[in-house]
Amino acid sequence: MKKPITPQLGRAALRALFAERSPLGPLKVMAKHAGRFFQIPIPGFRPYVVFGPEANRKVLVTERDKVLWRNTDPVTDLLRRGVLIVDGEEHDRYRRLMEPPLHPSQLPAYTEMMIRQTDRVASQWRDGQVVDMLVESRKIALLIIMQALFSKDVWDDLPRIWHPILKAIEYISPGAWIIWRKIPRPGFRKPLRELDEYLFEIISDRRRLTIDRPSSTVHRPNDLLQHLLDAGLTDNLIRDQMLTMMIAGHDTSTALLAWTFSLLGHHPDIFHRLIEEVDALEKSPLLDQVIKESLRLYPPIHIGNRRVAEEIHFDGGSVPAGARMFYSIYLTHRDPEIWEDADSFCPERFAHGRKTPPMSYVPFGGGPRACIGAAFGQAEARVVLAHLLRHYTFEFTNHKIIPHMGATLEPRPGVRMKITKRISVVE
Ligand code: HEM
Repeated sequence: MKKPITPQLGRAALRALFAERSPLGPLKVMAKHAGRFFQIPIPGFRPYVVFGPEANRKVLVTERDKVLWRNTDPVTDLLRRGVLIVDGEEHDRYRRLMEPPLHPSQLPAYTEMMIRQTDRVASQWRDGQVVDMLVESRKIALLIIMQALFSKDVWDDLPRIWHPILKAIEYISPGAWIIWRKIPRPGFRKPLRELDEYLFEIISDRRRLTIDRPSSTVHRPNDLLQHLLDAGLTDNLIRDQMLTMMIAGHDTSTALLAWTFSLLGHHPDIFHRLIEEVDALEKSPLLDQVIKESLRLYPPIHIGNRRVAEEIHFDGGSVPAGARMFYSIYLTHRDPEIWEDADSFCPERFAHGRKTPPMSYVPFGGGPRACIGAAFGQAEARVVLAHLLRHYTFEFTNHKIIPHMGATLEPRPGVRMKITKRISVVE
């Protein structure tokens, strides 16, 4: 390690925690002091943190065989054998099964559905009402992912699944369990069971619809669920993949949409330019840049969590086998050695022709286990944002927002905006 973590540094980190009201503050302090390799000095929880292009390349590509995804933690408890957390051949098999419906060539087929689901949520807004775009984005993202991957319209079921989904997200979010592994965690059993029951119903409905019936006599959706069934996976394994995709595929998009509204609300000049461009052009380059810059400043998945299987060396030190290690997407994206004016919202940095060094922009991870839904998530953000901006005005109510480390990095307490329907819009 380049520099030891001293008591003064500990105090500076604590001050940053209170000033920023987020653990990201102390992380930045430690990174500034210790460089791109350090160990978090919390008794009972001493993970290593690495960041920057070289470390990212090692963890994600060149030395990825030395790290494992599967951990003994609530994420593994919940997702069991979901593609996100299994390793080796088992992972590759599930991944192959799930890639086709998420292939970029499939994305145009989802556009109309994405707009329809956005309209359903927006149709509930009253003119002049203040709504929380964190909550509204979650509804939109949930409707879209369930329809796209499982051909399931969850609109009428939102009251039934909303609370269980929020509890599932809370269950896997960082908390006291990180330090006190055996701390009781009451209040989860029932909602998690209800979520399982919901997913098992979807699976058995589909089995009933398709099994023993020739494909000519029944409409067989060509979706992700059908790929899993046709491959002969058991109901339990299908449940694991569905829950993984449902959570990973909507909580991230929720955060991306909500952070983008927050950033636009804080930068009215860019917001106005964006609205003008979205009205004038079918494909707005500025919208792409805004989404990219939102993912840079507030990457929904701000760290990658790994267990080290074999000692791995970094510039600055090494991580022993058995240790827990994070590669920090957030710190990579805020590194002043890589990014000019790293903390500023500057979408133009992604303007056409400008290049970022490889592995320095990693909102979707990288290498063979990069996000399976990266293209889908970005297309969704483009479609939903363009549609909403063309039909509504969003006035930020100017309240304080802090990044909360839940399952994703979330804008808390939400993004409250006053909504007005636009009268003359380009259709
Ligand atoms: C803005 C949206 C999204 C962001 C920022 C995001 C981010 C990420 C990141 C950083 C990883 C790698 C994590 C690691 O290295 O530990 C990842 C993996 C993954 N993501 Fe996403 N994601 C997004 C959308 C989606 C969507 C829409 C889906 C599903 C349709 C999805 C499903 C997954 C899955 C299954 C993995 C694990 C892949 C594997 O291990 O092979 N994500 N995502």
